[in-house]
Amino acid sequence: MAKYYTEPSHTFSEYLLIPGYTGKENIPTNVSLKTPLVRFKKGENAPLKLNIPMVSAVMQSVSDDRLAIALAKEGGISFIFGSQSISSQADMVERVKNYKAGFVVSDANLMPTSTLQDLLHIFEETGHHTMPVTEDGTSHGKLLGLVTSRDYRLSRMEPTTLVKTFMTPFDELVTAPKTTSLSEANDIIWDHKLNTLPIIDENQNLCYLVFRKDYDSHKENPNELLDEEKRLLVGAGINSRDYTERVPALIKAGVDVLVIDSSEGYSIWQSETIAWIKKQYGNQVYVGAGNVVDEEGFRFLADAGADFVKIGIGGGSICITRETKGIGRGQATAVIDVAKARDAYFEEKGIYVPICSDGGIVYDYHMTLALAMGADFVMLGRYFSRFEEAPGQKLVVNGNTVKEYWGEGSARARNWGRYDLGQGKKLSFEEGVDSYVPYAGLLKDNVTMTTLKIKSTMCNCGALTIPELQEKAKLTLVSSTSIVEGGAHDVQVKNRDNSYK
Ligand code: IMP
Repeated sequence: MAKYYTEPSHTFSEYLLIPGYTGKENIPTNVSLKTPLVRFKKGENAPLKLNIPMVSAVMQSVSDDRLAIALAKEGGISFIFGSQSISSQADMVERVKNYKAGFVVSDANLMPTSTLQDLLHIFEETGHHTMPVTEDGTSHGKLLGLVTSRDYRLSRMEPTTLVKTFMTPFDELVTAPKTTSLSEANDIIWDHKLNTLPIIDENQNLCYLVFRKDYDSHKENPNELLDEEKRLLVGAGINSRDYTERVPALIKAGVDVLVIDSSEGYSIWQSETIAWIKKQYGNQVYVGAGNVVDEEGFRFLADAGADFVKIGIGGGSICITRETKGIGRGQATAVIDVAKARDAYFEEKGIYVPICSDGGIVYDYHMTLALAMGADFVMLGRYFSRFEEAPGQKLVVNGNTVKEYWGEGSARARNWGRYDLGQGKKLSFEEGVDSYVPYAGLLKDNVTMTTLKIKSTMCNCGALTIPELQEKAKLTLVSSTSIVEGGAHDVQVKNRDNSYK
């Protein structure tokens, strides 16, 4: 006979936290959001940790190299989408790994034979005043000089004047070698009163420019998630079909952590994929798996060697899996159940396998709830898709600025087969939709505000760390009437122009 769960499964919106005792030490600046990303043994430290408990979803409309750089700078990690060719995914990973904060590849370059007119054109296109002069006019050509707005006077010079006649020539420039660190570059900039420092290789080819103004912005990212060589950390999504080719390419590109991306993770395909990766690479690369929604699924993946396990079926904002297939579970209940299984596994085997709550986060406080319920970190799609750095197009629709956000199981993305039936047959129905989400500005500003809210609620619960929150949290289910009470009610909310509906 079928097994019945008699209790309904619940979503985050049906829960609230009850405050605990707040002491003087419970202030947001004292709170640490550090959290393990991959499995570790009792008494040891996780070999990879996040500085904030947020990762971005394995989706075309969310995690490309640009978003991955912005998120890693804030202390989280992105999983670059796998629904693209192996080479383009590997290129994205490589671009994140090659990114050097504060080291800019110049996009406004001149040749010695360029004219003042050419310079003005480039300025119009890029808005940049500082232009290296290279032999072939490319961003990595042999550096011959530098032009800034102080080198020319439009009112006194002919448009046809050649750049080589007014540039600062190479032998008068202060430059630094490729091995220079950002803080060394900054010292050179200050010692020589420069605005720009060109970084060159042993053949005088231009590598990067370092600007005086960028050092300050670099210092603003104390949370940056870096590897031992001070490169940003990056993850990538893989599937259980082409992994024998995709994984080696991603590892070559420098990926730090992989995740098998599937709407249903309790399967032989996932355990075989993990086994193959571990056999080939041992702990040279970490691999998460999922998604599951109960203890059985968790144990299966933990035993298979998953470095973390992802929870969630059908809760994603663009997801119609529950409607089309009738599988899934309320996300809060799934997290609570799997967290119990994770703790029991730790007790029994002395191995801690972090869990990630994936999908269904609507409000910032849902993240705090997920953490309090036992999640080590959360994966977000819609949240990140709204930001400037996300890959979706920014558009104005009905007077509102929006970004595009589409599911991996939507017709737009599914050619790549996350929702593949196996054996190469493609699905004939969709499991996700194509949508718009309100544009929300820069990732940094939003993540700063969200993490402040999480920290502040943690203070209300008397917790300075995520494990402490998980130990001390008191959670209550709320009735549907009290959910109404939770929003503004029985008042007419004013619009910004003081009108009201
Ligand atoms: P969100 O943060 O609520 O938008 O959910 C994002 C999560 O939804 C992803 O991390 C995936 O687990 C899941 N997801 C992505 N695309 C689809 C889809 O097309 N159908 C169902 N689930 C999806």
